[in-house]
Amino acid sequence: MKAFVALILLVQIAVYQTKPHGPKPIGPSPPLGMRDCDSPEGEEAAAVAVDYINAHHAHGYKYALNRIEKLRVLPTGPSSERVILELDLLETKCHVLNPLPLENCTVRELTGHAVEGDCDVKLLRKDGKLSVLAASCHSSPDSAEDIIKICPDCPLLIPLNDTRVVKTVELLLDQYHSTNDVYFTLIEIARAQMQAPNAIFVEFAISATNCSSKDASEHAEACQALSGDQATFGFCVGSVMHVPNENIQVECEVYAPQPDVVHPVLAKDTVGLLSVPVHGFSHHNLRHSHSSHFNDSSESNSAEVSVAYTLSPKLVVKRTVSEPEHPGGVLDPLHPGCPGRVRHFRI
Ligand SMILES: *[C@@H]1O[C@H](CO)[C@@H](O)[C@H](O)[C@H]1NC(C)=O
Ligand SMILES: *[C@@H]1O[C@H](CO)[C@@H](O)[C@H](O)[C@H]1NC(C)=O
Ligand SMILES: *[C@@H]1O[C@H](CO)[C@@H](O)[C@H](O)[C@H]1NC(C)=O
Ligand SMILES: *[C@@H]1O[C@H](CO)[C@@H](O)[C@H](O)[C@H]1NC(C)=O
Repeated sequence: MKAFVALILLVQIAVYQTKPHGPKPIGPSPPLGMRDCDSPEGEEAAAVAVDYINAHHAHGYKYALNRIEKLRVLPTGPSSERVILELDLLETKCHVLNPLPLENCTVRELTGHAVEGDCDVKLLRKDGKLSVLAASCHSSPDSAEDIIKICPDCPLLIPLNDTRVVKTVELLLDQYHSTNDVYFTLIEIARAQMQAPNAIFVEFAISATNCSSKDASEHAEACQALSGDQATFGFCVGSVMHVPNENIQVECEVYAPQPDVVHPVLAKDTVGLLSVPVHGFSHHNLRHSHSSHFNDSSESNSAEVSVAYTLSPKLVVKRTVSEPEHPGGVLDPLHPGCPGRVRHFRI
C-alpha cells in the first residue's frame, strides 16, 4: 500500500510537472481514483467520517457536513479499497454533550458567527463496510470583517477566557441556581460573543453534582459532579446586557442521563472535564478535541500547534503535494465533479 500511495504521488507530480503553465486540459479520463464528490459513495463515506469526527470531538459543538471537497477511491485488494476525503464542515448549535442526533441539529448561521471545520479523512471499505483509518481536522471562525459586512450589529466571538466572559458565566450560573434545586458545576464555556458596547452572550456546558443549591451555598467545594450512570449534563444559553438597565437572561436544558452512549466526554470521569483551559481562543478547535483522544502528548490549546490528530503522516504529505493544483478550492479540471455541492453556505 505504501508503494501504491507513493506511486500515486509520483503520478500526480508527473502530471503537474509536465503541464506547469497554460490551461490544464480536461482529459477524457480523470486521474486514478478521482470520483465525483456528490456520488453516493462520497455521501456514504462522508456520513461515516462526520459521525466519527463528532464521536471523537470532546469539546464545543457537533459539526455538520457542508461540502465534499475531494474524493478519491483507491483499490487495495480484491474486496477492499481506500477512500480519501477532504471535507468542509460547519459548526452546529448542538453541544457535543447534546444527545440530539446530528440530523436534528441546526447549523449556526453566518450572522451567528459561523465556524468552519476542514478535515482530511482516510477510510477503508472492506467487504462493503466503511471504517475510518485516520482523520485530521482543524476549525476556524469566520472573520469579523465578513460578518460586519452582512450584519454590522451582530455580536462577534470573543476569547473564551476573557474576564468579562468568565464573570458573565458565573453570574448566569448563580442566577440559574437561584431557581433550581440541583447544584450544577461548569464543564466548559463553549462560546462567547460580544455586542458593542457591552452586551455579552455566552453558551456553556454544566454537570449536575451531588449537592443541592442550598448545600452548595454552604460548602460548594465538597460538591462532586455525578459520574457514571448518574452523570447528568446540561447546556445553558444566556446573556447580560447593560443598556439601558442590566438585563440578565439564562436558559438551561438538562439532558436525561445517557448511560448507553459511548462518547469520549461521557466515558471519562467528569471531574477530568472540569479543567479545560482555553486561553485566548474564541472557539474549541476541532483539532484539539481529537488530539486528546489519540494520545497526543500536547496539552496546548494553541491554534498554532502543528500536531493534528493524525494517525498517518501520509495524508499530510498528500495534501502538501496536491495543494498547488487546487488553489482556494476552485473547480479542479483534474478532478471533475469536485468540489461537490454546498449544503448550507460558503464562508
Ligand atoms: C429528529 O428529527 C426527526 C425528523 O424531523 C424527528 O422525526 C425526530 O423526532 C427528531 N428527533 C428528536 C430526538 O428530536
Ligand atoms: C458529595 O460527594 C462528596 C465526595 O463523595 C462528599 O464529600 C460530599 O459530602 C457529598 N455531598 C453531599 C451533599 O452529599
Ligand atoms: C487569555 O489567554 C491568553 C493566552 O494565553 C492570555 O494572554 C490572556 O492574558 C488571557 N486572558 C485572561 C483574562 O486571562
Ligand atoms: C495511550 O498510550 C498508552 C501507552 O502508549 C496506551 O496504553 C493507551 O491505551 C493509549 N490510550 C489511547 C486512548 O489510545
